[in-house]
Amino acid sequence: MLRTHTCGELRLSNKNQIITLSGWVQKTRNLGGMTFIDLRDRFGITQLAFNLDWDKTLCEKARTLGREFVLQITGEVIERESKNLTNPTGEIEIKVTQLTILNSASTPPFTIEDETDGGDELRMKYRYLDLRRTVVRKNLELRHRMAIETRNYLDKQQFLEVETPVLIKSTPEGARDFVVPSRMNQGQFYALPQSPQTFKQLLMVSGFDRYYQIVKCFRDEDLRADRQPEFTQIDCEMSFVEQEDILQTFEGLTKHLFKTVKGIDISTLPRMTYSDAMKFYGNDKPDTRFEMKLVDIKHLTIGKNFKVFDDAELVVAICAKGAAEYTRKQLDELTEWVKRPQIGATGLVYARVNVDGTIKSSVDKFYSEEDLKKWAIACNATAGDLILILAGKEDKTRKAMSELRLEMGTKLGLRDKNNYSSLWVVDFPLLEWNEGDPNLPESLRGRWVAKHHPFTSPKPEDIELLKTNPGAVRANAYDIVINGVEVGGGSIRIYNKDLQALMFETLGFTKEEAQHQFGFLMNAFEFGAPPHGGIAFGFDRLCSLFGGAESIRDFIAFPKNNSGRDMMIDAPSLINDEQLNELSISLKS
Ligand code: AMO
Repeated sequence: MLRTHTCGELRLSNKNQIITLSGWVQKTRNLGGMTFIDLRDRFGITQLAFNLDWDKTLCEKARTLGREFVLQITGEVIERESKNLTNPTGEIEIKVTQLTILNSASTPPFTIEDETDGGDELRMKYRYLDLRRTVVRKNLELRHRMAIETRNYLDKQQFLEVETPVLIKSTPEGARDFVVPSRMNQGQFYALPQSPQTFKQLLMVSGFDRYYQIVKCFRDEDLRADRQPEFTQIDCEMSFVEQEDILQTFEGLTKHLFKTVKGIDISTLPRMTYSDAMKFYGNDKPDTRFEMKLVDIKHLTIGKNFKVFDDAELVVAICAKGAAEYTRKQLDELTEWVKRPQIGATGLVYARVNVDGTIKSSVDKFYSEEDLKKWAIACNATAGDLILILAGKEDKTRKAMSELRLEMGTKLGLRDKNNYSSLWVVDFPLLEWNEGDPNLPESLRGRWVAKHHPFTSPKPEDIELLKTNPGAVRANAYDIVINGVEVGGGSIRIYNKDLQALMFETLGFTKEEAQHQFGFLMNAFEFGAPPHGGIAFGFDRLCSLFGGAESIRDFIAFPKNNSGRDMMIDAPSLINDEQLNELSISLKS
């Protein structure tokens, strides 16, 4: 070994020992006759001391070293005169007697410190240097701990980790596939898995009973802070279970992770139906760290000649506690904010409940104080509160209000990242009507699509409705939501081939198409498929939540940017003509 200790290890108890360390130069300070170097490795930083009086040549050599040079030093552990108690090694320093430069380094393009001067792009281009920064490395250490604890828990619960293939046939999870051309089967393509969904179900047919895998999934979809084209799931499946068993088992995993990784005891997760989540939060992944529920006040607003409310499908309010003193300017800004295309509201109405109990609104012309009092009672608004109201088409308005609720939650400091609020959202609809989501392939628009995926079981009591009112069918499907983030989702599966065929029919597949795409699964169901169900957690999202960050990027060693590019290796990139010819691919010029 090129060292006896790491740079995070030495304490006063090691005083007078002769040790060897290896690491990178974080910082050099020249103070008259003394030179100090902070030597860094993964484990910490240790101060090296050189003195012209102790060894002139060595001290002069130390002064020539640049940032990020790689050194090996030998010396004696001595007690520091001025201690730095914020650093675990800050009570000692090393009186260096030998110094070897293991490698020199060019000046890094940004400072390797927690607060760096490097912009996003530069850091991504030199990600290997970015990963030297303690803050980024700590995120990956957290990720490692989460993976270990996940494995510990699932192993104890008798889950087997099984790897499934990466070169597969398309799995319909609702996004576009990444495809890989096959040289040996000219003109044909593999798809990269959007999830191992069908394979884990086949493993249940094989009798594996309890499967899990911490696995890469690939989805060609628009990217956001919580979405990457390749991401990782904790993917799980269980046989001979009902929904309750899955909820219990994975509530157990969630509790285990909070306890072992964060030292937090969380209580039983509340359950909320999808329809309540939409009604009270306008969102199927409600942030329940704070109340501010949506209140439908349409019935209290009609018939007063205010056309905007009279014509609206929905008039919905929230009560921002203690925000009555919002200034005109702040309210104007909020109005502009809801009118942005991303939110899409046409305007914002407000009513202030003043400290003296009087209520003033932006629509006083139409509503008397008596009317406004009724709104206040409905919204549970008392002196000092601000009522914010949006009106318009049902779905769009609920969605916009959900965004406004989150924005107000942030503004009022109600979304502390260290405060965790988790819940299950259950009873999702089985299907949703897709008018024309531009994010979906053309072939999936203007028809019923599976809300979760086509293998999700309808609630037995709703199966009859599949033929008459597909939109009303509820699924045995559930999501786990933490602080407004959909951390995981799953369902009880269809295991009967006739019901699976009916599902494909409802989704508009012909018998031939269903057989062609999913024949392997339907055939497997002929050979004794057990009742089964499962869930997948978004591992990157879970890690970023535990790490208190919004973007999953910093919890992935080598992430892609928002255009799906790896800036460091410069991918995707062109391939040469020879490769294209071998694959019989010609590019349109
Ligand atoms: P689902 O599509 O809900 O379910 O995915 C499960 C979880 O994976 C995470 N996730 C993502 N994370 C980062 N980037 C992405 N692009 C991305 N897409 C999804 C989310 C999500 O909750 N096969 C089913 C699971 C099952 O039924 O067992 C599935 O993949 O946190």
